[in-house]
Amino acid sequence: MTRVLALTNHKGGVGKSTSATNVAFGLCGVMRRMGTPNNRILLIDTDSQGHATLLTTGRNDFGTDNSLYTVLMADRQQAPQVMASCIVQSAWDPDLHVLPASPMLEGAERELMGVAGAPYRLADPLSRIAPHYAAIVIDTRPSFSLMTEMGLIASTDAIVPVEPRYLETVGLMSVVDKIANIREGWRAPHLRISGLVVTKMDTRVRGHNYLLDELKQHPTLGRLLCGVIPANEAVSYAHRNHQSIFAYDPHAPAGVAYLKLVGSLIQRLFKVGA
Ligand SMILES: Nc1ncnc2c1ncn2[C@@H]1O[C@H](COP(=O)(O)OP(=O)(O)OP(=O)(O)O)[C@@H](O)[C@H]1O
Ligand SMILES: [Mg+2]
Repeated sequence: MTRVLALTNHKGGVGKSTSATNVAFGLCGVMRRMGTPNNRILLIDTDSQGHATLLTTGRNDFGTDNSLYTVLMADRQQAPQVMASCIVQSAWDPDLHVLPASPMLEGAERELMGVAGAPYRLADPLSRIAPHYAAIVIDTRPSFSLMTEMGLIASTDAIVPVEPRYLETVGLMSVVDKIANIREGWRAPHLRISGLVVTKMDTRVRGHNYLLDELKQHPTLGRLLCGVIPANEAVSYAHRNHQSIFAYDPHAPAGVAYLKLVGSLIQRLFKVGA
């Protein structure tokens, strides 16, 4: 079964899109270097803001007939072919493919509300496409809306980025509970919480160190911690250039940390040494 990793947290601005794009690109490169026969990665952007789409394709003009919106609105029988036809190559790597978001996704939630089987409109066609990929990464919007539920139902692994701030970490157990509820309530037995990534960590800030230590000692959350990404302005510059952090500056502290995270995810989820 192809692993499907959803970067998710209902908090805004915690680094979901930064993590989804760099993890997807990192998986592609690391798997290629490992000589994996198939290193194609699919990045799915479920957020109507389309940040992951813009970063990886340089475009934000996807709409009714060439985006995830098109897939969600398609006849269910046709949805796998429609999905295949909407997937584009990223500008980052020929083996990194993107199912783009569209601002129309905002309306899709309303349009699909109450439609039978709506929560499975991403998972069902994706199950047909997934075997073509070594892994799939999903970027989600900052809320537990229907769109995010669709992303999580289609996923095997939820990875939760979190900033080391008091109110952000206080809400973490509710994120864990929400994901558990989706697994139980939406017949998604394959979904589990596989990782917690602390983002924008500044070791000069006492509160950041304190919260990271607390997380490490927490019986549930400490076990899930799989990466710490430093606050690093190279991330903003990479975004401005529509580049991955690895391409912008492979030696940037955030790039080094994202590479370590990718190695750790490969070991944890794909059971191979990186
Ligand atoms: N490690 C980092 N160091 C410095 N800035 C960062 C880092 N990671 C992300 N940022 C910045 O933080 C902002 C939010 O990042 P990002 O868009 O990835 O978060 P998000 O959780 O996807 O946001 P949203 O909830 O709006 O989708 C961006 O301006 C990004 O450039
Ligand atoms: Mg985002």
